[in-house]
Amino acid sequence: MINDLWYKNAVIYCLAVGTFMDANGDGIGDFAGLMRRLDYLQGLGVTAIWLMPFQASPGRDDGYDISDYYKVDPRYGTLGDFVEFAHAAKQRGIRVIIDLVVNHTSDQHPWVKQARSSSDSRFRDWYVWSKKRPRDANKGMVFPGVQKSTWTYDAVARAWYFHRFYKFQPDLNTSNPQVQAEILKIMGFWIQLGVSGFRMDAVPFVISTKGPGITKPVEQYDMLRTIREFLQWREGDAIILAEANVLPQTDLEYFGRAGDRMHMMFNFQVNQSLFYALAAADTGPLVKALNATRPRPKTAQWGTFLRNHDELDLGRLSEAQRRAVFAAFGAKPSMQLYQRGIRRRLAPMLDGDRRRIELAYSLMFTLPGTPVLRYGDELGMGDDLSLKERACARTPMQWSAEPHGGFTKSDHPIVPVISTGAFAFGHVNAAQQRRDPNSMLNWTERIIRMRKEVPEIGWGDFAIVRTRDEAVLAIRYDWRNNSVLFLHNLAATPREIVFRTGVNHDDGLLVNLLSEDHSRAGPSGDHRVLLEAFGYRWFRVGGLDYLLRRSELDNPHPFTKASRK
Ligand code: NOJ
Ligand code: CA
Repeated sequence: MINDLWYKNAVIYCLAVGTFMDANGDGIGDFAGLMRRLDYLQGLGVTAIWLMPFQASPGRDDGYDISDYYKVDPRYGTLGDFVEFAHAAKQRGIRVIIDLVVNHTSDQHPWVKQARSSSDSRFRDWYVWSKKRPRDANKGMVFPGVQKSTWTYDAVARAWYFHRFYKFQPDLNTSNPQVQAEILKIMGFWIQLGVSGFRMDAVPFVISTKGPGITKPVEQYDMLRTIREFLQWREGDAIILAEANVLPQTDLEYFGRAGDRMHMMFNFQVNQSLFYALAAADTGPLVKALNATRPRPKTAQWGTFLRNHDELDLGRLSEAQRRAVFAAFGAKPSMQLYQRGIRRRLAPMLDGDRRRIELAYSLMFTLPGTPVLRYGDELGMGDDLSLKERACARTPMQWSAEPHGGFTKSDHPIVPVISTGAFAFGHVNAAQQRRDPNSMLNWTERIIRMRKEVPEIGWGDFAIVRTRDEAVLAIRYDWRNNSVLFLHNLAATPREIVFRTGVNHDDGLLVNLLSEDHSRAGPSGDHRVLLEAFGYRWFRVGGLDYLLRRSELDNPHPFTKASRK
């Protein structure tokens, strides 16, 4: 295995330029502001920033409706500002990945304007048309309840066009070789400007066949290999992090059996069962999801997350499980969205209970994969349910107790800063938390620091350790002659568990990485640990000379072994 695969153990921090920091006082976050906050992000310890879409856009889906892929939205700055930012991040050792939104464009994109204007336009076939209203026009909506259909009539084009998402987001005909070439060109452009890769939006839809006659869309997985090849030819260590909420049996189609497609995917399967586990103190389905998503090429990696900028999609849970999560975390209709999810931020979902918030993040940092945090999570930021749909969890970053949370000098922020209630910027902000050693911010900084010292999670193989208590998850990672073990008690009551590490180089000592309470096995080799309600432990198996024990190679004879087969 090549040691250089940075994404195997990164800490990714996702943010939207428009709501992070406003430098020029017009109420809208910008690259100049973000750049001045890079020292904050470096101090927090994140190793990569994922920027939500910032290209020119009418902004009807927070930038996921792009009208010019080669331009920065002027509200955020210029291409020059972007390059300055990318350079400043690089100087601090922080990589930048950006959203690649190529399933659809904005309906204001010049391509679609030309495509509509005439059936002879060379852009006509860049989109997906139908002369008649397709029979399944009211099926397959991604935003049920808000989005009425997937086909809309266009009076100028005198035809129906396909849109998987909102109607102002016409789907690109991604099977068209010209569109495919343009996608690579867009990637090449941003790679040239210094990004380390892409969070690719809506991947299953990008690669799907589209058209009026298509009743059973087929995923064209080969497209993923072409995209990967191009990317790695242009920039060897650039990656793609795929947004693909798919079933485990197709994971390998996305990663590629030989690791030749997507480098990373968000683990939606684990995400949903993790929320169920938190809701019901039942780790059974989570263990199932971990095992189901275990197979992946050695070079591939999961993106582990709790909440993102969208609703918490619970569509993959069973009816009963979903009901349990709704009851625990989003009982009111105003908290729910699209008939399948919860639109709140994490901290309010967990009633601002510090024990549970730490537990959830400790899990996120120690489950198999690379953690993906969201801006403001390090402060325990809340939401504003008076804002519509997903906007409620996209409020500006709360920097200080100054007006508008120190986000802007303007009195008209692009999105109102949370100013009332328990999560208001007066109580929850970075400036105050920086001074408080026990704040969420300092906890997050410390946990990130420790996460970086546990590369076993990103590189190693995991094993679920038996505890005989379904409320407690015990997971162990083995890598290069070292092992680490994590315990999480999801219950609201203390639990005493008895377990064996199952490691041969176990000399009976588990060193606690976060506090002084280490564990010594009894004469039989059993460890007995009392976990307080929502308690968690990070242990290293064996003494602190582990670094001396760590081997340099996964397998000392990789070539000879392979060639013997
Ligand atoms: C997925 C993104 O995460 C979401 O925010 C967006 O609305 C859709 N894709 C459409 O681009
Ligand atoms: Ca601004």
